[in-house]
Amino acid sequence: MSVPIQFTPAGVQITPHPDLTLRGTIPVPGDKSVSHRALMLGCLAQGTTRIQGILASADPQSTAQCLRDLGHQITPLTAPEVEIRPGEWQEPLQVLDCGNSGTTMRLLLGLLAGRAGQFFTLTGDDSLRRRPMQRVITPLSQMGAQIWGRQAGTRAPLAVQGQVLKPIHYDSPIASAQVKSAILLAGLGCDGVTQVREPVPSRDHTERMLRAFGADITWEQGTVTLQGGAQLRGQTVVVPGDISSAAFWLVAGAITPGADIVITDVGVNPSRTGILEVLEAMGARITCQRQRLVAGEPLADIHVQASPLTGVAVGGALIPRLIDEIPILTVAAAFARGKTVIRDAAELRVKESDRLLAMATQLNRLGVKVEEHPDGLTIFGRAQPLVGSELHTYDDHRIAMALAIAALNAQGVSRLSPSDCVQISYPQFWETLQNLCQPTPTP
Ligand code: S3P
Repeated sequence: MSVPIQFTPAGVQITPHPDLTLRGTIPVPGDKSVSHRALMLGCLAQGTTRIQGILASADPQSTAQCLRDLGHQITPLTAPEVEIRPGEWQEPLQVLDCGNSGTTMRLLLGLLAGRAGQFFTLTGDDSLRRRPMQRVITPLSQMGAQIWGRQAGTRAPLAVQGQVLKPIHYDSPIASAQVKSAILLAGLGCDGVTQVREPVPSRDHTERMLRAFGADITWEQGTVTLQGGAQLRGQTVVVPGDISSAAFWLVAGAITPGADIVITDVGVNPSRTGILEVLEAMGARITCQRQRLVAGEPLADIHVQASPLTGVAVGGALIPRLIDEIPILTVAAAFARGKTVIRDAAELRVKESDRLLAMATQLNRLGVKVEEHPDGLTIFGRAQPLVGSELHTYDDHRIAMALAIAALNAQGVSRLSPSDCVQISYPQFWETLQNLCQPTPTP
């Protein structure tokens, strides 16, 4: 039985086969958020930092290259252990290229705004140059930062003239770990207390890692307090598997008849596990095994088996806890009985693509009825079988992977392009999908 994925000049062709299912035990690549932060804190610290299990994909590569351009030594990310030898922070000769990575650009703004006397320019690819930067520029400007950009200072390319910053207490209008982290990184170099309050708690990897590196930081539901001025010390960081990458297999395992998948060493930080809660509420058979704490982050192996799903309502405080998983969640919804309503997720319109528009139009092409709202989607699941189609990924890694899982469970051939964008967060995605494809066991 042939593997149902073919690489053609026109994109990836997916040919579903009723006798194939997904079975096996797999790791997932390192967490993208933790990887960016480990690289940045390693350059801020005194002494060597070692990172095990870093994500060697395009986004962390962008962060690593920017940091090298700023004067730090970072060994290749593809090695089992990455070593960082921090140098003197230099004013780079070239424009810092953040590629496709919003985390790189927004966190770097926080890191660089307080480097008094130095000048920096930052840019990114077509997608990143369209994304809003005002959300970090506003609080950083309140701290005294001088940042200029296109479109009245809201879009990259950006220029930063480093200043001596003062700490602030910031009430963020949005729940964004990138905004919170940019302010905290700027606050590290300030005299006094920086505080960030969020309307709903976002992921807390920056807080956990800053504490592990020796910062004076406390946090409770939605408020983080950092005392500036501490000297960070180099650490060994163990990067957990990325639950945002695991999410594709969790949904694939739940919706593919006969599937049985174990995903090992996945980060299950409670600020990231919204997808597990929603899939369980939909009726997915998911169990977390071998739960443990590694280098300050909780880890587990996650087992998923196929089961019938039912539609749910998702919104409110849950959204920041599964923000990157919403594209693949819409695929679970398409295969669930009844309707799924996703609200309070307008943020998805300013990710690597407009992910609400992307999933609505592409699920439509597969024959799924979807209604688009300004802040979400209503998906009418299982009304009829999905039909293979020509699919456009909007050059967005998470849209490409979500559509691949949908196409695998449709009737007939789909072609998906561009497909190379999986390099942003999950270079081994296609290979892992091929390896998981196995004949359905006879009962
Ligand atoms: C990230 C935070 C989230 C997430 C992004 C990574 C981070 O963005 O969508 O993929 O590493 O801090 P926001 O904080 O802007 O919601």
